[in-house]
Amino acid sequence: MQAIAQEVSVKSRARVKAHGEVFTPRSMVEQMLDLVSDDLLFVDKTFFEPAAGDGNFLVAILQRKLRMIEKHLERDVWVRESLFAVASIYGIELLEDNHQEAKAAMLEEFAGFHAGHGALPDAGSDVMRAATFLVDSNIMCGNTLTGRDWLGDEIAFSWWVRDDIDLGIVIRQPFTFNSLRSSAPAPSLFDYLIEPDRYAPCRIEHVHKEVRAGD
Ligand SMILES: C[S@@+](CC[C@H](N)C(=O)[O-])C[C@H]1O[C@@H](n2cnc3c(N)ncnc32)[C@H](O)[C@@H]1O
Repeated sequence: MQAIAQEVSVKSRARVKAHGEVFTPRSMVEQMLDLVSDDLLFVDKTFFEPAAGDGNFLVAILQRKLRMIEKHLERDVWVRESLFAVASIYGIELLEDNHQEAKAAMLEEFAGFHAGHGALPDAGSDVMRAATFLVDSNIMCGNTLTGRDWLGDEIAFSWWVRDDIDLGIVIRQPFTFNSLRSSAPAPSLFDYLIEPDRYAPCRIEHVHKEVRAGD
């Protein structure tokens, strides 16, 4: 007899009551992503999950982007593009255990994609360290309603802006989450940034080294 994996939509009644924690079934996640399937054809198109849970939407978005990369792009850019795909997916989750699960699931998906093509990156490699750094920077534990983490600090994300000419180069541009919903919209993207020139441009595989401009 074959075991059938059960999808868990509720962890406990207490958590449903306290945090509204009910997970969307995989089939429904897929149906919802079908509604934005054109956007998922672009590696750099950004997605944000305000109540990330265990990462079910985040991982499904990454999966679709990786499938697109595999189908339409040359193999020699898969590492680079898969890192930009990770860099484009953002989330906030209130509960620490869900937050850890969401990040782990993203990294498992990333590593699984490369392993499936016989190129599992070493945990200590630049590729895996860059992926881990991007996931840690983009999926934050905190409260989406206040834009603050559990210490009360403002949640800060970064745009990972790809160079127009050398497609492997990224420039990190930090911003606070709350700045995005300011009632008076800033005239341009750059008005939202914290210290726009803080980081030096670098290859995306080296983004975890956080090289500062002028270093
Ligand atoms: C209804 S579940 C949905 C999870 C996932 N998005 C899904 O559809 O399967 C809601 C999630 O949002 C989280 N959450 C509740 N209030 C939140 C808040 N103010 N900020 C961030 N996350 C929150 C809960 O911890 C829970 O994991």
